[in-house]
Amino acid sequence: MALRDKFMTAEEAAALINDNDTIGFSGFTPAGAAKAIPTALARRAKAEHEAGRPLQIGVVTGASTGQSLDGELALAEAISWRTPYQSNKHLRAAINAGRTRFFDMHLSTLPQQVRYGFLGKFNWAVVEACDVTEDGEIVPTTSVGAAPTFCGVADKILIELNQNHPAALRGLHDIYEPLDPPHRKPIPLSDCSSRIGTPYIKVDPAKIAGIVETNLPDEVAPFDPSDETTQKIGQNVAEFLAAEIRLGRIPKEFLPLQSGVGNIANAVLAALGENADIPPFEMFSEVIQDSVISLIEKGKCKFVTGTSLTVSPGLLKKLYTDLDFYKKHICLRPQEITNNPEIVRRLGIITINTAIEVDLFGNVNSTHVMGSSMMNGIGGSGDFTRNGYISIFTCPSLAKGGKISSIVPLVSHMDHSEHSVQVVVTENGVADLRCKTPHERARLIVAKCAHPDFRRELHGYFDSVTKGQTPTTLSAAFAMHQRFLDTGDMRGVDWKAAGLP
Ligand code: COA
Repeated sequence: MALRDKFMTAEEAAALINDNDTIGFSGFTPAGAAKAIPTALARRAKAEHEAGRPLQIGVVTGASTGQSLDGELALAEAISWRTPYQSNKHLRAAINAGRTRFFDMHLSTLPQQVRYGFLGKFNWAVVEACDVTEDGEIVPTTSVGAAPTFCGVADKILIELNQNHPAALRGLHDIYEPLDPPHRKPIPLSDCSSRIGTPYIKVDPAKIAGIVETNLPDEVAPFDPSDETTQKIGQNVAEFLAAEIRLGRIPKEFLPLQSGVGNIANAVLAALGENADIPPFEMFSEVIQDSVISLIEKGKCKFVTGTSLTVSPGLLKKLYTDLDFYKKHICLRPQEITNNPEIVRRLGIITINTAIEVDLFGNVNSTHVMGSSMMNGIGGSGDFTRNGYISIFTCPSLAKGGKISSIVPLVSHMDHSEHSVQVVVTENGVADLRCKTPHERARLIVAKCAHPDFRRELHGYFDSVTKGQTPTTLSAAFAMHQRFLDTGDMRGVDWKAAGLP
């Protein structure tokens, strides 16, 4: 059947989906996420539920998505299970209330685990595209994520052909999927900018079951303006890296950077751009945020590889007016490549990610609040941290108006262990944990990174714990967290009552 005979409305496409289906949606952050079909499916699910009929699906994506996908489907109670990452408040609430099963995965491993069959059968791939051809070339929009894998494994494909993105995006993407063991070969990439794949996802055109025309912008929320704290964190990272170059521990031509997601990461990159001692650099990262675009314009970022172009709507419009220029500096690849441990270690990537909390030994919690509530997920932070040339974690030393210290005796959930975390940076300073024992790490983290309001509190804990390789008293290790849960403020722990001498 010719493509022109496959055009349909979002409602018609949503009507093809059955209860219990598993769907791989395009989208890595709100960039490039399917929008019209999931919204129509959410409406249908609501109607079905009102009529007493079940309609819930398994939702797999590259990473987080936008309100039209995770938000609307969660509000419609239409997601039975979800992986690998999310950041939507409605979905987060459903997950933490136990209404949606969520499992948190390293993003680099998702596509191969989908191919290995670990996630079961995929009924549908629903992907946003700026162009599709009769012979099955699908050109993605602002993200690649895991869309090539979803298209490969799914029984049928639905395409959202989004005119908000020009077909001239063709050439921005580099689609490469490794073979699976025992046939896998080394990924032939030894620098940030080489292209090793095709500028489109190739599918069997017979699998395309429908095409829905849309004109919807990506639902990227604007970033918070940087403040004194995030600027100081950024400056501390930049000064640390500049000193490492002077000491000869980072080559003078510098190394590719990876920078995490969120407001802090955005501010850190802006600060790196302003530091005259950091030479122009390349980035091999996951999410390309606003600050990277201004670094490209200033000539400070020479080339960036990512899997999503997550920039605010105004900035994306501007980018599209001079696409030829930006295509020379940006390449979007599948998350299986951008986050691949083989590549991260080969290129010597300096990794900078954000922590929710860090403990005295350098263990990092990126995902859970007070040990039990899921925030977003581990995302790509583990892919990069474990394999980085230098792995850095940043965070403000305080959260929730100063009632929480981000530096704690022991993390209430651990995503990155002390063995993978090398440097911790807050607005107060830099703790370089390399070649330090747990006792030395504890002293350094409190002195350099903890907020002055909490230094005495933290000393109250670890000064009393002197025995063992790693100074820990199990009965007291979570006393600050418990104090917050009991009183709404971590300060004022009675360490004796918590079991310390
Ligand atoms: N205790 C409780 N809440 C905390 C906290 C702590 N120690 N530290 C931060 N928070 C809360 C903040 O108060 C804020 O909550 P709010 O949304 O209700 O205001 C929220 O966490 C986000 O913090 P914010 O300071 O705005 O940081 P951010 O936007 O930079 O996000 C992470 C920080 C850790 C949540 C985010 O980076 C993330 O999801 N990381 C994991 C995935 C990842 O690293 N991906 C990158 C790989 S390439």
